[in-house]
Amino acid sequence: MTPKPALSVPGIAYGGDYNPEQWPEEVWAEDMRLMREAGVTMVSVGIFAWALLEPAEGVYDFARMDRLLDLLHENGIAADLATPTAAPPTWFFRAHSESLPVDRDGRRLSYGSRQTFCPSSPAYREAALRIAGALAERYAEHPAVVMWHVHNEYGCHNPACYCEASAESFRRWLRAKYGDDLAALNDAWGTTFWSQWYYDWAEILPPRATAAGPNPTQLLDWRRFCSDELLSLYKAERDVLRAAAPAIPATTNFMVMRGADKMDYWRWAPELDVVANDHYLMYDDPEPEIDVALNGDLMRSLAGGPWFLMEHSTGALNWQHVNRAKGPGELRRNALAHVAHGADGIAYFQWRQSKAGAEQWHSAMVPHAGTDSQIWRDVVQLGADLKALAEVRGSTGTASVAIVWDWEARWALEAPAQPSAEVRFEGLVRDWYEPLWRAGVAVDFVRPGARLEGYRLVLVPSLYLVDDEGAANLTGFAQRGGTLAVGFHSGAVDANCHVRLGGYPGAFREALGIRSDEYFPLPAGETLGLSGGGTASLWSERLRLEGAEAVASYTEGPLADVPAVTRHSYGEGAAWYLATRPDPATLASLLTRIRTEAGVEPVRAAPEGVEVVRRRSPAADYLFLIDHSGDGARIAVAEDAVELLTGRPAPGSVTLAPGGIAVVREPRRG
Ligand code: GLA
Repeated sequence: MTPKPALSVPGIAYGGDYNPEQWPEEVWAEDMRLMREAGVTMVSVGIFAWALLEPAEGVYDFARMDRLLDLLHENGIAADLATPTAAPPTWFFRAHSESLPVDRDGRRLSYGSRQTFCPSSPAYREAALRIAGALAERYAEHPAVVMWHVHNEYGCHNPACYCEASAESFRRWLRAKYGDDLAALNDAWGTTFWSQWYYDWAEILPPRATAAGPNPTQLLDWRRFCSDELLSLYKAERDVLRAAAPAIPATTNFMVMRGADKMDYWRWAPELDVVANDHYLMYDDPEPEIDVALNGDLMRSLAGGPWFLMEHSTGALNWQHVNRAKGPGELRRNALAHVAHGADGIAYFQWRQSKAGAEQWHSAMVPHAGTDSQIWRDVVQLGADLKALAEVRGSTGTASVAIVWDWEARWALEAPAQPSAEVRFEGLVRDWYEPLWRAGVAVDFVRPGARLEGYRLVLVPSLYLVDDEGAANLTGFAQRGGTLAVGFHSGAVDANCHVRLGGYPGAFREALGIRSDEYFPLPAGETLGLSGGGTASLWSERLRLEGAEAVASYTEGPLADVPAVTRHSYGEGAAWYLATRPDPATLASLLTRIRTEAGVEPVRAAPEGVEVVRRRSPAADYLFLIDHSGDGARIAVAEDAVELLTGRPAPGSVTLAPGGIAVVREPRRG
């Protein structure tokens, strides 16, 4: 395999989306001065500029982009040049109204916003590749251009379209998947149920609105198709750009953050030269720093090393119910936490806060108030911080714990007509991640079929669907001496969403040494006591030991004395089952016990509320210490350590101010 082209911007790149077309050109000169003041090294340009770049079909106006790229180059700022295909111009839709997407209810949407196009539209694909080709041809050699920013957040607003062109494309995808064998599809989808048997490929539809619930396998295949369909658009644009400029890396920005479940990024990540993410804090998350960490670890795992934070916010957003500003020091803690979890570039949406348009109330690096503002002071400070961290680039995390994360299992679990609609994939993963984060234990995320050598502990908080290979891989890990912990309702169905018969949790029954014959989900707010203390919520099941031992049982209710947590010595290793959702303190102590038994230690001892993350290079460990407690702390480090943000030696210890951050370099020995 030829190595992927890498980003040529040195150190930790710093910048944001730059949309100067919103401003008169006099403002551009000020932008350059301020970017230099803040230490900005790269900006993403042209993301939503299609209407200006191609005012009419096949007619281009590159004059403004020429001036912009030249100006950036003169100022030593690199450009991440976007293909503007997330926002087709009005003229395109007037000529191709069939490219407007249709929702589940058969309603065709209108132009007048962004990303309102059908991913399967041939006219859209043709127009997108045309503008991408024109940009590539014109700017492949421009010295400012260091990366292609393909499209923007694929599937953010249009993850699925239910029109006839989409139906046709779905059928093509299904024919390829099922080898043109309709009987195989009928079998996989279980179409004998509710008289859904298909006699002709032409009968198959997207899961459009129906009076009763959808077929779960059809729905799952549809979600797989929707992810692949947008991925094929990405690949088509990337290939056009690559043909013109093979040395310039291509990226697109993922949405790996709370609530985003639209694409299967395990399938996307290998197609990107630079794996990038957009991350925003949710206003109702009491500890959003945990979400930053979790998603950073997931990104590092998707990328297989450092990744790029393409967007986050300096302050309030404009798309939540209430848009919270950031507290003192939070901008810095957020950005440096992304670096701690593997980001080699830090960027914002957007450079200058808009005065008009749909996002005029979204924060930016240069706020409405101008430079006499807290945000601007923080932005300048961050530029200096990132400069001081240049040597961290390329280093990455190492972990002995892997958490299984699988989009297909999530989609299947969250489809309608499950035992409980209260069971949500992301909440369960976060439940298990939190105590590890609090303890300063490093984790990677993996797919069920990933190579697991090198891990001591594999956690499976929720894996409703798993294929046979994935299941064998996970149980084999325990058999060969690893410690495996599995959450309830995992292993229940195969890759076609068919229940694994004979008792729950299907695929993991034997390795876990247990068997359940019935699920007893608990309504929200209901809890059951656990022997040994603590409570259980969300789920319970009538479980029988078949080789495992009970670690905790229910003390009340219809399942009194039935095991709720079990441990099974399996092969050379151990396999734990959590048949319920223990309260946070009980889960934390269980996970401490499980990881201690597996020989997993925190990166470094630190007081509660101090996040500790390590990046490692061949020569040094970089210890990121972030105080979220507001109390400050003193932490032991090596005698020859240096704190990079201040540039001062930190012989033996480093002191964190309340809400403060230190990044400590410790030379590696031996
Ligand atoms: C997304 C988009 C940006 C902007 C931000 C606002 O991440 O990519 O264009 O709309 O959201 O938070």
